[in-house]
Amino acid sequence: MKILVTGGCGYIGSHTVIELLENNYEVVIVDNLINSKIEVLDKIKKITGKKVKFYNYDLCDNSKVEEVFKEEKLDAVIHFAGLKAVGESVSKPLMYYENNLLSTINILKNMMKYKVKKIVFSSSATVYGNPKSLPIKEDFPLHTTNPYGTTKLMIENILEDLYKADSSFDITILRYFNPIGAHKSGLLGEDPNGIPNNLMPYIVKVATGKLPILNIFGDDYKTVDGTGVRDYIHVLDLAHGHLLALENKKTGLKIYNLGTGHGTSVLELVKMFEKVNKVKVNYQITERREGDIDACYASSEKARDELGFTCKYTLEDMCLDSYNFVKSNQ
Ligand SMILES: NC(=O)c1ccc[n+]([C@@H]2O[C@H](COP(=O)([O-])OP(=O)(O)OC[C@H]3O[C@@H](n4cnc5c(N)ncnc54)[C@H](O)[C@@H]3O)[C@@H](O)[C@H]2O)c1
Repeated sequence: MKILVTGGCGYIGSHTVIELLENNYEVVIVDNLINSKIEVLDKIKKITGKKVKFYNYDLCDNSKVEEVFKEEKLDAVIHFAGLKAVGESVSKPLMYYENNLLSTINILKNMMKYKVKKIVFSSSATVYGNPKSLPIKEDFPLHTTNPYGTTKLMIENILEDLYKADSSFDITILRYFNPIGAHKSGLLGEDPNGIPNNLMPYIVKVATGKLPILNIFGDDYKTVDGTGVRDYIHVLDLAHGHLLALENKKTGLKIYNLGTGHGTSVLELVKMFEKVNKVKVNYQITERREGDIDACYASSEKARDELGFTCKYTLEDMCLDSYNFVKSNQ
């Protein structure tokens, strides 16, 4: 089977491409490298011994998207491509709406035209907003608090409407919780340029001396130690979830949380990172950050029952692998 992986040079996409190649799928990547590097392709080849077909195209250009669909006989699409920085989406909303929505619409239009009816879409736990109770189940009310999250929710709505209009589509929406960790080889992982938006890349930059101190935003949340609680999931487990979604026997429109089902506080993560990597992470408590919520973790029962999804990797693995990746690439 030939799978189009949009955003396949990115953090989650590249790990999923490896999972697909190791399971004998043929992979075509479209990525405009706006948030990734071309070297990722060599690293994928090094890890798997297999080459992928790559198009350096912007998915917002429909003529380019059509060229790919015409050229490749695709069986399914895994759609990772998108801009994902929450803060940036607040200051540049139009950029986020244009990029995330237009790219998706172009893909869906070509899927219709070329009769490729299977898609797995990267959504996010951010569509749950501030949940009323925990753990978060897939049928909880949806509510977003920033333009990035709204693009995810709007795309979910588009997919639902498309399915209503054409039930031959086979659509899986995966709502990721907080992916961290890296490939065991140390070749692939998340290493954003500049000041990271997410906690783990920030911790790693402080541990390696690239940033002086970690700011922990608030210690008066209603959690075990007052710091925010999230559901961290190893990117390798997440990548495996995509394989299971692709191979799921259940057709139609399906929505799954991909998380571990366990919450970890910021301080617990920092302490675990220090312990397993034997390093010190300097931190200070600062003001709460606007829009942050006390706690967020998944109910992972539906993904377990319907996809057979369980997590293999622990928080220790996530901390070890994240640090190993950055140390190996310094
Ligand atoms: N990492 C997270 O914490 C997280 C959590 C929930 C959901 N998600 C979603 O999962 C998906 C993958 O996330 P990631 O962490 O791997 O992000 P990433 O930025 O590492 O990967 C996204 C890739 O898409 C590419 N891209 C963006 N716009 C494009 C366009 N118009 N045309 C072609 N390529 C384009 C980028 O160059 C990048 O390689 C995203 O849709 C993101 O919103 C991520």
